[in-house]
Amino acid sequence: MTDSKSKSRRVLTGIRASGTVHLGNYLGTIKPMLKWQENHQCLFFIADLHALTTQKDVRLLHQSSLDLVATYIACGLDYKRHFIYRQSDLPMVTELTWYLSCSTGMGLLEKGHAYKDAVAGGREVNHGVLAYPVLMAADILLYDADVVPVGKDQKQHVEMARDMAGSFNALFGEGLLKLPNVSIEESVMVIPGLDGRKMSKSYDNVIPLFAARDLLRKKVLSIKTDSSALEAPKSLGGTLLGDLYKLFAGKEEFKDLESRLSKGGMGWGHAKEALFELIDREVKASREKYEALRADVPFLEKVLADGKEGAGAIGHAVLTRVRKALNFTVSG
Ligand code: ADP
Ligand code: TRP
Repeated sequence: MTDSKSKSRRVLTGIRASGTVHLGNYLGTIKPMLKWQENHQCLFFIADLHALTTQKDVRLLHQSSLDLVATYIACGLDYKRHFIYRQSDLPMVTELTWYLSCSTGMGLLEKGHAYKDAVAGGREVNHGVLAYPVLMAADILLYDADVVPVGKDQKQHVEMARDMAGSFNALFGEGLLKLPNVSIEESVMVIPGLDGRKMSKSYDNVIPLFAARDLLRKKVLSIKTDSSALEAPKSLGGTLLGDLYKLFAGKEEFKDLESRLSKGGMGWGHAKEALFELIDREVKASREKYEALRADVPFLEKVLADGKEGAGAIGHAVLTRVRKALNFTVSG
């Protein structure tokens, strides 16, 4: 059997270390990676440099990074066959960011949705927010990634990475940087949050992936529903509750709840309890693993050190290629 670390197609993704990992991150990014890791070489990283654009509490930043490693492993990402690393542990990425910056037009960056949103929202915008897509492109291009699985909100960024690689290659050598492809699973493109908008840390509408059972229940029970009476027949169709239920239920389970609701006599509260049980069923085992892993910081740091070594070797080879093309000195 081939070791997956030597497989040729490389799949890479990252999550910002900026607080609670939520069901949107899990369904949009982590769960799809469980499939990718079966047959491809995978790189999973913790985007702590990206988190620094908004998170200035460095203690929290560090804690969030460890939360994420523990989350990745608890969810089943195989750190023995693939690489889990922390972005800031491999500062080569910032060097490549600079090279890409010098061949990326301001016009492209000003189209970035995170930048546009920040400006439109009147928030203070630092250079990191504008340059965010360049660092993200470097994350991807430094490791010669073929495929980048993300939620729909990140599609634009991966396409920008492709554009940046194209411009860079046109200037310094065709084939120098590999053009990545985005992968988005249609059914989990945009997971809605408690208020119906995209589930996001920025909107404070998340269902945390590893909330304690009581808190998870409280969150699920807070999902907004209409005020139809208990006796009224109901349908999950077109409701936030139904959209979330569909993500966790099998086809039969979905039909079963729909049929019980349609008869009347079942309130939304009962349906929310059913959703809570489904989510709890999905995350229970990983939540228990998470608690144990999170308490073992030396183990988490060891996983990150191994990831740094493995991903670092790949990054070093790519950066050497780039430095040669730029006619810069190349170190061993
Ligand atoms: P947040 O929006 O909460 O800050 P991140 O930007 O850190 O989350 O997202 C990390 C990964 O999780 C990205 O690949 C992103 O596309 C995915 N993701 C985040 N929220 C959702 C969502 N609501 N639905 C689907 N995927 C999501
Ligand atoms: N920008 C991504 C997010 O906010 C996180 C991220 C940083 C990323 N670098 C990446 C995702 C490279 C995929 C590939 O979710």
